[in-house]
Amino acid sequence: MGKVVVMDHPLIKHKLTYIRDKNTGSKEFKELVSEVSMLMGYEVTRDMELEEIEIETPITKMKSQVIAGKKVGLVPILRAGLGMVDGMLNLLPAAKVGHIGLYRDPETFKPVEYYCKLPTDIEERKLIVLDPMLATGGSASAAIQFLKDRGASNIKLVCLIAAPEGLKAVQDAHPDVDIYLANIDEKLNSDAYIVPGLGDAGDRLFGTK
Ligand code: PRP
Ligand code: URA
Repeated sequence: MGKVVVMDHPLIKHKLTYIRDKNTGSKEFKELVSEVSMLMGYEVTRDMELEEIEIETPITKMKSQVIAGKKVGLVPILRAGLGMVDGMLNLLPAAKVGHIGLYRDPETFKPVEYYCKLPTDIEERKLIVLDPMLATGGSASAAIQFLKDRGASNIKLVCLIAAPEGLKAVQDAHPDVDIYLANIDEKLNSDAYIVPGLGDAGDRLFGTK
């Protein structure tokens, strides 16, 4: 089973409080989501491999470590996942970014795909799927399956808030995927929104409601 990492850093807890607050407007919401994503990125990248190279300091030659191994791909699930891209790119500037467009059907809560553009070499990349909300888990599971169907095998999922139901759904469907979360909330309501959650992440990010 993939690991589930729930962030316990005080800065993440602090910023998540203001992300949740309904009085936080779009501009600040966007900034906070970006900041939390960058802080989470620190943990998400903890297992990256290193290799030694030789450099010269102004004093002497030395061997020192740099990131090695597979290249990274960021895959935000549109729309709300877009809010997490900049923060991650601050840490991983060489990452390529693929986009998967999914929306939840308001009646069935099932994900509907409407867009996909991925780097051509996703099977060679470590992929990090980004979406602030893991509610029923339908969108994240579908996006991960989509990537696997196109040859990807090294996939992590990063979300800000998960409902226990969604977390279990993704773990059941994709036991190989490590999941990184800022918090696991209480439950889903009858509209499949996370309680207490933060409301509709896409609307709050883009000011559409
Ligand atoms: C939200 C969110 C996730 C999905 C989570 O997107 O960003 O993608 O719902 O729900 P699930 O776990 O039940 O699938 P939404 O469909 O509202 O689209 P948007 O990002 O364009 O607003
Ligand atoms: N999508 C959201 O944006 N928020 C939720 O609480 C659930 C799904």
